[in-house]
Amino acid sequence: MSTVLAIETSCDETGVAVMEKKGEKITVYASAVASQIDIHAETGGVVPDVAAREHVKVITPLIKKILQQSGKNKETIDAIAVTVGPGLMPALSVGVQAARTLAFAWNKPLVPVHHLEGHIVSALLGEEGIKSTYTIPASPFPALALIVSGGHTMLVRTDDFLHYQLLGQTKDDAAGEVFDKVARMLKLPYPGGPHVSKIAERGDVNAFKFPRPMIHSGDLHFSFSGLKTAVLYALRDNPSAKKEDIAASFQMAVVDSLLKKTEQALEIEEYKTLLLSGGVAANALLRAEIGTLAVNQGIKLCIAPLSLCGDNAVMIGQVGLLAFEAGRKESWQNVDAKARMSLESFSARSD
Ligand code: KG4
Ligand code: ZN
Repeated sequence: MSTVLAIETSCDETGVAVMEKKGEKITVYASAVASQIDIHAETGGVVPDVAAREHVKVITPLIKKILQQSGKNKETIDAIAVTVGPGLMPALSVGVQAARTLAFAWNKPLVPVHHLEGHIVSALLGEEGIKSTYTIPASPFPALALIVSGGHTMLVRTDDFLHYQLLGQTKDDAAGEVFDKVARMLKLPYPGGPHVSKIAERGDVNAFKFPRPMIHSGDLHFSFSGLKTAVLYALRDNPSAKKEDIAASFQMAVVDSLLKKTEQALEIEEYKTLLLSGGVAANALLRAEIGTLAVNQGIKLCIAPLSLCGDNAVMIGQVGLLAFEAGRKESWQNVDAKARMSLESFSARSD
């Protein structure tokens, strides 16, 4: 049996959770996410130093509250799992420093977690993951994970828990980032994804023929900056265009691009499960269209529950527990935050 305190501060959500693994059974004793959305909405995006200041403000009271709620303490916690990257350096540093301090004071090991390991596992757990007690799914592998967030757009092959092979990623903007930028062009609030998607419900997906960049590139990489420019030109050249039509046509182009590459990946290799996670996985059109793709391909689909699509500490604690039991334990001196780090460097050796 293992118990971890998990901390996530890679962007604009402060997440803390206390979780336990007993065999294949996970219990989330307490968890919370303190969102900074209202603060960043005022500036139309995340200012890293402002995010860090907010994390500093809330993290200690949040850890105290979650520990109290969980009924656990330094005697009953085995390790501290923390997101070490990738993300905004000032924001990451707050969580990592809090984790290092606790590890030092309590004399416990740290379990460094890559943010995207968390997003992958949130899909693997599916709707089970929102229960306070759930069972880790039995062998859904090999799985193909489509991770779509504000900072990343990736296709990853995973042959086991804690095992990752990067198949493709965006060459420029991430899918969430482009949703946010298009939202700004349409004068919609931050974060843009949910707002674009909301007005797109009333728009015509065929009103504008936006490009699906890299769709025939012959690899599994993505690109969204050309699409962003196409939206900018469409707005410039059609000042009377309905925002709803732009949003609907743009959203369809993003979803098409994501799914075309996913389909190509499924043609190259055989998979047992298709996974979808990350902030953009909250998008209703993407959830529906990937559902259709999975049915057509005859593959089991696991989508992160809506409450775990955005950043949270439960997904970090889940990875932390698996990794801790697999021997990923570090002394506080050896753990640092890093804005960029490869997912594959966290992959457990397959031999
Ligand atoms: O995973 P996440 O919470 O943070 C990162 O790790 O980046 O993802 C946040 C991103 C934002 O860009 C936001 O606009 C986008 O997810 N997003 C959406 C939707 N909900 C959130 N994008 C499209 N449709 C949505 N419904
Ligand atoms: Zn994220």
